[in-house]
Amino acid sequence: MATFPAIAEMIDLTGKRALVTGGGKGIGAAISKRLIEAGAEVTIADMDPDIQEIANELSASFALCDITDAEQLGAAVRHAANESHLDILVNNAGIYPPTGPIAEVSDDFVTKMLDLNVRAQYSASREAVNYMSSGGSIVNISSIAALRGGASITAYSTSKAAVIGLTKAFANELGPKKIRVNAIAPGIIDTEGLAEQGAALKEGGIDVYAAIAANPLKISGDPDYIARATLFLASDLAEFITGHLLVVDGGSTA
Ligand SMILES: NC(=O)c1ccc[n+]([C@@H]2O[C@H](COP(=O)([O-])OP(=O)(O)OC[C@H]3O[C@@H](n4cnc5c(N)ncnc54)[C@H](O)[C@@H]3O)[C@@H](O)[C@H]2O)c1
Repeated sequence: MATFPAIAEMIDLTGKRALVTGGGKGIGAAISKRLIEAGAEVTIADMDPDIQEIANELSASFALCDITDAEQLGAAVRHAANESHLDILVNNAGIYPPTGPIAEVSDDFVTKMLDLNVRAQYSASREAVNYMSSGGSIVNISSIAALRGGASITAYSTSKAAVIGLTKAFANELGPKKIRVNAIAPGIIDTEGLAEQGAALKEGGIDVYAAIAANPLKISGDPDYIARATLFLASDLAEFITGHLLVVDGGSTA
């Protein structure tokens, strides 16, 4: 490393193309905003057609896409690359309905959870690297549920732990192509999705709103904390970082 450019230059994403799955809501929307602010051209891939309007407001492009569907996912990646290239992929879309007691969890439920939270991240990365011939950065959203487990969220914890393995394996294979692959484990973050699951999670013994600021910093988890960490990992500031899990949780797992 002969020269070290100014920090502002290293987070200037002008000319970079990014795809953010689930990028119009919650954590994903905060990530899209930060990438756009840094100059990237962002495509949001989401299965909810209402996100089109949010994408317009954010000045992002929109690809209506269920990321578990191979054809739709392939089309979204092509859309984001715009017959040119892709520099950044953020594998953010995921679900976290409470699992319930292990004895009551069906195979179908586990399969659905793993298909979206793990397999679709795998497929999205495989498709995206076809457009990263000049290198790139992939950021996978895991969770602190991967690190400490939790009764009633067994399938979710399993899926998010698999994301860490996926991240490390991809980092090793794609490193020589100058594609960095990292993961973020958010703590409990106040999002629309969390609000929707709040009541059901409470029934399973997890009070998310009590937990939301239950960290040594006593700060409520805001989506922008995850967005800033993603921006760092996506930028050249993190040029020597790959295969890493960055825990962003106010110290709740410390
Ligand atoms: N909120 C938290 O406390 C928290 C904590 C740790 C990790 N996470 C992870 O962060 C990510 C985002 O969480 P959030 O709370 O912002 O979620 P959210 O529910 O608020 O938003 C998720 C978005 O993903 C989209 N999506 C869901 N399934 C999809 C599919 N099959 N194809 C395309 N789009 C789909 C939804 O339409 C939605 O717009 C998830 O992977 C989640 O597991 C969240």
